[in-house]
Amino acid sequence: MSPVDNDARPAPARAASRDLFAIPAGVTYLDTAAHGPRLRAVQAAAQAALDAGTAPWRLTTDDWEAAVEAVRAGAAALFDGDPDAVALVPSAAYGVAVAARNLPLRAGDAVLVLDGQFPSNLLPWQQRCSEIGARLAAAQRRDGGDWTDAVLAALDADPAIRVIALPHVYWRDGQLLDLDRIAARGRAGGAALVLDLSQSFAALPVSIARWQPDFVVTVGHKWALGATGLAYLWAAPHWRAHGVSIEQHWLARDVGNSWRFSVDCAAPYRPGARRFDAGGVVDPLRLAMAGAALRQVNAWGVETIAAQLRVRTAALMQALDEHGLASWIAARPVAHFVGVRPPGADALRAVGAALTAAGVVATTRHGIVRLAPHLHVDVADMRRVAAILADAANAAGLR
Ligand SMILES: Cc1ncc(COP(=O)(O)O)c(C=O)c1O
Repeated sequence: MSPVDNDARPAPARAASRDLFAIPAGVTYLDTAAHGPRLRAVQAAAQAALDAGTAPWRLTTDDWEAAVEAVRAGAAALFDGDPDAVALVPSAAYGVAVAARNLPLRAGDAVLVLDGQFPSNLLPWQQRCSEIGARLAAAQRRDGGDWTDAVLAALDADPAIRVIALPHVYWRDGQLLDLDRIAARGRAGGAALVLDLSQSFAALPVSIARWQPDFVVTVGHKWALGATGLAYLWAAPHWRAHGVSIEQHWLARDVGNSWRFSVDCAAPYRPGARRFDAGGVVDPLRLAMAGAALRQVNAWGVETIAAQLRVRTAALMQALDEHGLASWIAARPVAHFVGVRPPGADALRAVGAALTAAGVVATTRHGIVRLAPHLHVDVADMRRVAAILADAANAAGLR
């Protein structure tokens, strides 16, 4: 099945595609950094899968395998188009654990992360390092500083770094890392590259050719609009041929139609990154949701999604500027994610309460309000949010 479905809606206009999403009236949902809004097509696919589950004897293995491969192809279209490169796993942490299991690391080596990095791309490295006597190195960003500079400085300072494990967009405030520069510098030093794209996948293009990573992981439930519990792991050709899975699930093995597993020798892996496919995640419900989501996302195209989200975030920033709140913008914003930092804990609380009272859903954490739209909101929504922030600032005497 093609990842692009002719039934999916064409690229949306600049206005909101609100009718495609099942967001209740009165809610301005800006929390895609936590979980994407629900497409009606995804809701319908989920309902159909639940209904079909009442007669499991009618679900054929062929249909199920076709659904698995359609999701693989749909996700692959957002990486580099090669379904053989993609494994289906339950979480970003699982994908990072596969990378940590496989990449060569010795005592004394270091793994580079960001200070405050999301734990799914931290804990597996801590475990692996503690097993072998390697260590973590954390890039430190100065106040108001830039993660790319911090990463490049850390690489210059620490020649023991053998693995660079980073996001594309920092989960707390939306700051973009320049992966072109970081990947080139890492390659020059012979370090492996592992990327967690959970905060950018399906909102910003992926450049496998430029970054040449070893492993890339992402959840499927943020801008990719799919189900929780079904994440994607891209593996470089070397690891597709030589990598070891952490689970040894039968799904990852090829025994043809015999379905006999010899005691004497393990059955060969299925081709490509399928050797890393995890058990349990390929349940019909999650597959149906992910399949519908990826068909829509691919029908829009990630370049279009990015361009249209940029229209929304640009409108938000312009409105913040007009309200005199430009200094609240936490980081040079990307297309899909604006972090706003009110001055101090009381201000953050006041702003959070004002947003909640106005029906705006956003995460408020680590001193930052994450405003992360998808195509269900429009420019007017974004301007309204800026006005709410300005009113909250005035009411709390913040300026
Ligand atoms: C950067 C980042 N990575 C990973 C995740 C999720 O990881 P996991 O699938 O391991 O729960 C999130 C958020 O949910 C995230 O923001």
